[in-house]
Parts: sequence; C-alpha cells; structure tokens
Amino acid sequence: MTIRRDRRWMVEHLRDPYVRQARQEGYRTRASYKLVELDEREHLFKTGQVVLDLGAAPGGWSQYARRAVGTAGRVVAIDRLPLAGLEGVDILECDLRETAVVENRLQTLGIAPGGVGLVLSDMAPNITGDPSVDQAKMLELGMCALELARDWLAPGGAFLFKFFQGSEFPVMRAALARDFARVKLLKPRASRARSAELYFLARNRRMV
Ligand SMILES: C[S@@+](CC[C@H](N)C(=O)[O-])C[C@H]1O[C@@H](n2cnc3c(N)ncnc32)[C@H](O)[C@@H]1O
Repeated sequence: MTIRRDRRWMVEHLRDPYVRQARQEGYRTRASYKLVELDEREHLFKTGQVVLDLGAAPGGWSQYARRAVGTAGRVVAIDRLPLAGLEGVDILECDLRETAVVENRLQTLGIAPGGVGLVLSDMAPNITGDPSVDQAKMLELGMCALELARDWLAPGGAFLFKFFQGSEFPVMRAALARDFARVKLLKPRASRARSAELYFLARNRRMV
C-alpha cells in the first residue's frame, strides 16, 4: 500500500509541470509558483521592501522574494531546519514558536519592529494524520506567525500565510479579522486540488 502510494506520488511528481518549470528556472521548489501566482494576482511585493519568510526551507519562496524586492530590498528566511545559503538572503535557523528568540535575532540583523513590508508564512507542521492534533499544531503556528506580523509589519504592510482547512480554520480567521481590516482567502493553481491548504492574505492592520 505504501509502495503503491509512493510510486503514485513519484509519477505525479515527474509529470508535474511546476516541478519541470522549477528545474528550468532554477527554483528550489514547485511551491515558488504559488507565490509567483499570488504576487501576480495581489501585487504583494514592492521594490526595496523588507520581507520575512517564515518556514522558508528549502528556500523556493525566498528565491522569488529576493528577485521581487531587488537589491535595495531585504529578505530574511527563517526555518527550524537548516537552509542552504541563498545570495542576498539572511538566514535564521530557529523555531518560530520561540517568538522572543526570533525577535531578538531580527533585531541583531538591524531590522526594526514596524519596518517590514511583507510577512510570508508557508509553515506547516509535521502531519500526524489525526485531524484534531494537526489542526491544533497548525493553529499554534498560525498564531505565532500572526504575533510576528502584528509586531513587525509597517503600517500598510501585508501578511500572507498558509492554513489548512479544518476545525480551527474559523478560529484563525476570527483572530486575523481582529487585527486586520481586510482578510482574503486564496487558493493558487499550483496548490494541488486535493490539498487542504489555503492562503490567507491580510492587509490594513488595525492600529490600537
Ligand atoms: C512547506 S515547507 C516551506 C516551503 C518553502 N515555502 C519553499 O518554497 O521552499 C514548510 C516549512 O515550515 C517549516 N516549519 C514548520 N514548523 C516550524 C517552526 N515551528 N519553526 C520554523 N519553521 C517551521 C518546516 O521546517 C518546513 O521547512
């Protein structure tokens, strides 16, 4: 059963046009094309912006972000897993649930709270297969990403992040709506139809 599933995954992977395109264009992951499409639709990036990429390994989103902000911009890629060096990208290896550690390391890089134009999160927990456990883990990651976005985004900044549909989805949506006046749900074509993943795009942070 597992062998059959593995083989099916391999066949699908080899036939996937985004996998081929990523190889041709030098992106580390097919996931880059989710961000490419969302940027085309939503105009996420601006030249010269500071971008935080949460859950960045192996680096496909950071590669695109680097190209999109240009040499005047800055990209910080954060993951608990090691990430091979990327030209022009600052890499922080840390667990994003340790918010204080992350904030400290951002300050060491000279990035100031309120100075970030775009926070991205493609973070996903290790899936256990138990929906209630997986949803709880996703909510924990989503809340940590939201806390960082709240503290580090500039007025007018945007926050794009992945969430899986399930029992905690309305909880995450309500938390976002408390902090941002505009919240949208997006499903890029490069995201497989059978995947429960969706992307929230939040803009217009409410100032307290
Ligand atoms: C789907 S991958 C991201 C792919 C990436 N956007 C790309 O294009 O290369 C999700 C990442 O989230 C990271 N992640 C999950 N939980 C994390 C945590 N608590 N702290 C930091 N990174 C985490 C994983 O290590 C994994 O590398």
